[in-house]
Amino acid sequence: MEKKNIDWSNLGFAYMPTDKRYVANYRNGAWDSGELTSEATITMSECAGVLQYAQTIFEGLKAYTTEEGKIVTFRPDLNAERMENSAKRLEMPVFPKERFLKAVVETVKANAAWVPPYGSGATLYVRPYMFGSSAVIGVKPAEEYQFRVFATPVGPYFKGGVKPLKLTISDFDRAAPQGTGNIKAGLNYAMSLHAIVSAHHDGFDENMYLDAATRTHVEETGGANFLFITKDNKVVTPKSSSILPSITRRSLMTVAKDYLGLEVEERAVHVSELKDFAECGLCGTAAVISPVGMVVDHGKEIKFPSGMEKMGPVTQKLYDTLTGIQMGRIKAPAGWITVIE
Ligand code: PLP
Ligand code: COI
Repeated sequence: MEKKNIDWSNLGFAYMPTDKRYVANYRNGAWDSGELTSEATITMSECAGVLQYAQTIFEGLKAYTTEEGKIVTFRPDLNAERMENSAKRLEMPVFPKERFLKAVVETVKANAAWVPPYGSGATLYVRPYMFGSSAVIGVKPAEEYQFRVFATPVGPYFKGGVKPLKLTISDFDRAAPQGTGNIKAGLNYAMSLHAIVSAHHDGFDENMYLDAATRTHVEETGGANFLFITKDNKVVTPKSSSILPSITRRSLMTVAKDYLGLEVEERAVHVSELKDFAECGLCGTAAVISPVGMVVDHGKEIKFPSGMEKMGPVTQKLYDTLTGIQMGRIKAPAGWITVIE
């Protein structure tokens, strides 16, 4: 298979239509058999549930070319499980896990020419999603749904690659305690747009959101969880019922413990503790691990000792081990890697 003629090393995080996408429709209480299609455009009712009441959920995972030249994905079973939770919370039908996994594999296989080569720094981002496609005008769940998967080659999420980020503590809330912060619903991202545009306008790369109830504890950013490293090399990640259970973060906690022999803690993190950490990073499928150099709390600069030039040493080890596992350089725990071809 001949790869597409793309300048892989200079890709940003942007959408580029690829050859095939997967589509299945839910009608009369059942999913149809689903298929791959070349059609990238969707036609639906002007009154579709997704358009009127934002009934839409999504997932994000990546396909990698390993050192040996195989195409693999990383823990897609956890994306299927998280999408099931998202669907239930928004009163949507569940797309069965086995079918989710098959749809991901079929989509990646059909776009194998778009999977960036090993060592290019780029990956194939895979986006499963589902939305209410039938008309609703009273506030209620739609009766018909579409599940789709597309794939698009991407480079780093943050411009500048691994240069440490500058964050601001947001005055907007991302998620209420009993809200939808723990699922991957489009609405969580729509409501973050004003906050991120404002942060960019003010010269920041991202927002740090606090818990909405007390505004005293660190939650996450608009698209990634936090990891902190203490001065005695413990890995700490915020615990909250209103943050997205990041697959990258859960994996990194295992990597820290089992591969690097570090102590790990998932616990509430108070804002006043920020000044005591040695390193800070954002983790997620898109973000991988992006180092944070500074958090600004209403004009007060909190600088991590790792600085604004490079990743801190523990963050770097976590990054190297995780990406080593994903790219086949380091042996993965059982079940973490699905070989596609
Ligand atoms: N938090 C939010 C709000 C996200 O959108 C994402 C991205 O998926 C993450 C965290 C990271 O999750 P994961 O590691 O599963 O990609
Ligand atoms: C991901 O990391 O897959 C996400 O969905 C985050 C998004 C902000 C791009």
